[in-house]
Amino acid sequence: MAVQNGSSSGNSSSMRTPRYGASQIGVFDLVPKLGYREYWYPGIIDKDVGKKPISLKMLGEDVVFFRDSKGKVAALSDYCPHRGARLSGGWRRTAGGGPAAGKLNNEFKGFITCPYHGFTFDGEGQCVAALTDGPESRLQPVLKAPHYPTITHNGIVFVWMGQTEPVPLEEDIPSYFFDDDVITETYIRLWDLNWTLTIENSHDSHAVKIHRGSIRRFFNRGLFRYSPGYHGAMKIAKETDQFIHITSAESARAPQSSYYEGIGAKWPKHVWWRRAPRPSSHGARKQFDADRPGYTGLYQLPAWVSPSGSGDRCHLRMAVPIDELSSRMWTFTLTRKSFWKGWRRLWWKVLYHTSHLYQLPQGTNELEDMPIQAVGALDPDMPQKVGASDVGIIAWRRRMPLKSRDAQRLWGSIRSDVEKAVGDAEKLEANDPDWQEFETPAG
Ligand code: FES
Ligand SMILES: [Fe+2]
Repeated sequence: MAVQNGSSSGNSSSMRTPRYGASQIGVFDLVPKLGYREYWYPGIIDKDVGKKPISLKMLGEDVVFFRDSKGKVAALSDYCPHRGARLSGGWRRTAGGGPAAGKLNNEFKGFITCPYHGFTFDGEGQCVAALTDGPESRLQPVLKAPHYPTITHNGIVFVWMGQTEPVPLEEDIPSYFFDDDVITETYIRLWDLNWTLTIENSHDSHAVKIHRGSIRRFFNRGLFRYSPGYHGAMKIAKETDQFIHITSAESARAPQSSYYEGIGAKWPKHVWWRRAPRPSSHGARKQFDADRPGYTGLYQLPAWVSPSGSGDRCHLRMAVPIDELSSRMWTFTLTRKSFWKGWRRLWWKVLYHTSHLYQLPQGTNELEDMPIQAVGALDPDMPQKVGASDVGIIAWRRRMPLKSRDAQRLWGSIRSDVEKAVGDAEKLEANDPDWQEFETPAG
C-alpha cells in the first residue's frame, strides 16, 4: 500500500507519503457526494417539533418529522405515497431545505394527514385513514409511506438513513454522547458546500494560512502565541475501521517563519510573540480523547470531525449532507460536569455564548473556513494534485469508503473490484518518484 497507516502502538513504523502530489488521486475519491447511507445522522432537535410537521432535506431526500401517537418524533418521506403531494405542505419550504410550516396536515394528534386528499399516516408510515376515499377505502390498508427509524437521545432526534437494518445508535455516534459527565452545547447552521469538503478541511494544512492574523486569535492565547509557519507532512497516527487520527507532528517543531527561495522572501512576514513558546499547559487539562494529542484531528465515519481540542472542552462537528451543494453543520461543544461545576459552570455559559461561539463556529468556521470552500469559491470537481499535507485526505477518500458500512452492506461485488483497483494503483504509486518512503514515529 502506498499510504500506510501508522501503528497505534507507539512503535516506529514505515510510512509513505506523497512528496509532490499523487497523480490520479481524484479517480479514487470514493466518498459519496450525498453521504454514506447506512448510518445514523442527527436530524432535528426534538423540542423543535411541535404541533406542526417539519420538513428537512437530508442526504438528498425530503424527510418530514412529526410526533406520533406516543409523542415520539417520527420521520417519513415527505412525499405522499398516494399521488406525491408533500405531507409537510411543502409550498413554504425554504431554500436549502429549511423547516417548512405544516398546513392542513395536523388535524389528528399523533398522525400526519396529507393536505391534498387527506390520507393519514401513523409514525411507521402506515396509512390509517383515507379521508376522501372513504372509511371503506381499499387503498388505505396497503398504502405505506417510506419510514425512517428515529431515536431521540440527549434531545437530538437521530435518523437512520440506511436501506438495511439499523445498528445500535452507540455504534455510530461518539461515546461522549452516552457519558453522564458530559454536557453538550449544540449549534446548527446551513453551509453552502458539499459536506465532504468540511471534513477534509478540518485537518489539513490550511489553519496556518486562513486563520493567521485573525483578530479572533487575541481570544485564544494558545494559537496567538504559537503558530508554526507550516505543518509539513501530515501523518496518520491511528486508523481503525471507523476513524482516523491525523497528526501534524512537524508543526510542533516547525519555525514560525521560513525563507521561500521562489519568492525571495520570508513567510509569514510578521511573527508576533516570536519568543513566546506554545503554552506548556496545552493539553494538560485534556479531558477528551486522551489518546489524541494536540494538533491531532479526527475523521470518523460517516461525517464526524474533531479538530485538535483545547483540553477542557471538545469541539465536535457533524456535516449532514442536504444535497450535493449544501450541508447542515452540527457543532457540538462538549464539556465535563465534573470540571465546569459551581461558579465555573456559570462562567462556561457566559464564555460559550460570547467568546467560544464567536471564536469557533461563527468566526473561525463560518467567517474564515466556509467562504473559501463554498459553492462558487471552490470547485471540488476540478483536477487536483494532493501532497504531503493531504495524507489524511487521501485516506479519507480512498480507504475509509472501503471500510464504510455502505461498502459492506450495499456495494456487493463492486466492493472487491474497487479494492483491487485501489490496491493496484497504490502499487504503481509505490514506484512513482513523486512518492517517497521515510521512517517516522507513529503519533
Ligand atoms: S397525494 Fe396525498 S392524499 Fe393524495
Ligand atoms: Fe479552519
